[in-house]
Amino acid sequence: MKAMFGPVIFHLLLFCASQTFGVRIQSDPAVTSDGVIHTELEQTVSLVCQLDGGHEPPVDEELVWLRNGAVVSLTEGNKKGQSSVCVTPVIYGDNGATFTCHLSKNATVTASVTLNVTYHPQLSGSEEVAVEEEAELVLQCDSWANPPVSSLSWTLNGSVVDLIAGGFTLTNDGFTSKLTADFVEKGLHEGTYQCIATSPIYGESSRQFRVTVTEKTLKLPLNPIIAGVVVVGLTAILAVVSRWDKITKCCR
Ligand SMILES: *[C@@H]1O[C@H](CO)[C@@H](O)[C@H](O)[C@H]1NC(C)=O
Ligand SMILES: *[C@@H]1O[C@H](CO)[C@@H](O)[C@H](O)[C@H]1NC(C)=O
Ligand SMILES: *[C@@H]1O[C@H](CO)[C@@H](O)[C@H](O)[C@H]1NC(C)=O
Repeated sequence: MKAMFGPVIFHLLLFCASQTFGVRIQSDPAVTSDGVIHTELEQTVSLVCQLDGGHEPPVDEELVWLRNGAVVSLTEGNKKGQSSVCVTPVIYGDNGATFTCHLSKNATVTASVTLNVTYHPQLSGSEEVAVEEEAELVLQCDSWANPPVSSLSWTLNGSVVDLIAGGFTLTNDGFTSKLTADFVEKGLHEGTYQCIATSPIYGESSRQFRVTVTEKTLKLPLNPIIAGVVVVGLTAILAVVSRWDKITKCCR
């Protein structure tokens, strides 16, 4: 019997030994088992770091917070035994940010959490666009999202834009989806466009563009010619005036 209990007691001792105090992060919203906090733009995340484990944690141990390795400045009363930081409002740049808390004396006693900020593409509303015949039409939609959009499509008058028939080019750099037509024709390009993004977690969002094609204005300009005539006329008058000046002077 004794021989059987031996290993059990040994393991229990090991367990207790590894329970010397450490630090622990609690948060709202809660940390998932893989150390990630899921949140959204404009939200608030509060983090509390506490001494943990040991039977009598020394309350005067100072704590340090880091955000992506940079020290977060804390007020005096917010360091000993327990320390809180608050991320508010959550911004794009907080996505993937890692918050680490450790003992001021011993940086190996540490705990970390990482933020996962989810957001859908910023698409909404509608816009009036006027473009001249034969000019270039450029329509742009935000496509930046976490998680990435599963699809982004463009429609014209309710059906998927025919890139070839309309002479369109479509580009997407992960931030912006851009639909371009180099040579606008009223019959081909006027109408109501929509870009529709689908997020795996937020569903669809869209933005509308009401495009009107206006007549090409005569670019060969009359105005500069008139201006030219005026300048020439003025110069002639000035010449006569200065001439007259000289003439009258020499007559004296
Ligand atoms: C820091 O903490 C670790 C883990 O608790 C411990 O093994 C180590 O001896 C400590 N170092 C110092 C300098 O106290
Ligand atoms: C963040 O959360 C989203 C939605 O739950 C998930 O699809 C994505 O993979 C997560 N990203 C990371 C880096 O954990
Ligand atoms: C789209 O609909 C508008 C209004 O009905 C129409 O004037 C326009 O020609 C249509 N555009 C195309 C490309 O069919």
